[in-house]
Amino acid sequence: MSDNPKIDEISGTETTGHEWDGIEELNTPMPRWWLWIFYATIIWGIGYAILMPSIPLLKSHTKGFLGHSDRANVIEAMETMNTERYENLGQLATASFDEIKADPELFRYAMAAGKSAFGDNCATCHGSGAQGFKGYPNLNDDIWIWGGRFEDIRHTLTVGIRAGHEATRFSIMMAYGRDGIFSTQQIDEVTEYVLSIANREHDADLAKAGAVTFANQCASCHGDQGYGDRNTGAPNLTDIEWIYGGERADIYQSIYYGRKGVMPNWNQRLSPEMITALSVYVHSLGGGEEASKE
Ligand code: HEC
Ligand code: HEC
Repeated sequence: MSDNPKIDEISGTETTGHEWDGIEELNTPMPRWWLWIFYATIIWGIGYAILMPSIPLLKSHTKGFLGHSDRANVIEAMETMNTERYENLGQLATASFDEIKADPELFRYAMAAGKSAFGDNCATCHGSGAQGFKGYPNLNDDIWIWGGRFEDIRHTLTVGIRAGHEATRFSIMMAYGRDGIFSTQQIDEVTEYVLSIANREHDADLAKAGAVTFANQCASCHGDQGYGDRNTGAPNLTDIEWIYGGERADIYQSIYYGRKGVMPNWNQRLSPEMITALSVYVHSLGGGEEASKE
């Protein structure tokens, strides 16, 4: 800038003194309002840097005098959410099944929690729709091995079946063939008998011989009529539902090799509240029985 500012005649503005081929550069000052905003942002920036976390250091950053932390806020929000959720869960721990059913909100909560826990823990074996697979029972129907009342289901989940729990549900379908208890002839006969009580196509003569064996060897667990017994987990052999399949070959295999389905005990992996939620969910799938049912 020259000491002697030159004023441009047309605009009336001071020039910088630079000139190219007669074209001069005007020295238009910043508008006042712009400048004030500019200074204000500087002040704001300094204030912000003092109060808020801002300047990166090697391992951390300056914390600011206000001690603000988004991370702490998120943790706090999650804690609040968890306590709210826990209030519902806590209620589940103490509420009876009737109380849960009587409280639509608690019931809805139990169903939602149970459904999501089912997807996480149970669907691998029982299928995402709880329809079951060979060796893994269908949980949608009203045919139960160990019982379909709410308390039965909750007990099954808590202690498991042939699982590690000291009070696990336990019983054994022996390997009558492999362990040499029966001859293959006897197994053939009793297989035909099971087919006959299941109302399936069978050889009547063999079945007749098998009936005697069944009464002597099998009825103690499966019952005189083959209806099964929930106390021993011996399934009903006369209904359409089979754990291991109802074809002649499947039944033969069950008798020859025995069966020992294992269902884990969930008491160590899931909280009692979650087991209650799962029991509400499984009970609601279609086969849940009333508490009064024997
Ligand atoms: C590792 C496989 C496996 C997983 C995982 C599993 N189950 Fe099972 N479950 C079984 C088997 C096998 C049986 C049948 C046991 C038997 O033959 O008595 C069974 C039986 C049951 C029964 C008893 C059915 C009846 O008719 O009495 C219920 C209820 C049940 N499961 C619910 C669940 C729930 C709820 C979960 C998730 C928390 C689950 N299961 C996870 C394998 C599994
Ligand atoms: C000590 C009790 C007990 C005795 C005795 C017994 N069973 Fe079983 N049986 C069971 C149990 C428990 C199961 C279910 C095993 C499982 O779920 O893994 C079963 C399962 C079966 C199955 C498979 C059912 C299905 O749904 O797939 C057949 C078939 C069967 N038993 C037939 C017999 C016959 C025939 C005899 C006599 C020779 C017999 N059982 C004796 C307890 C017994």
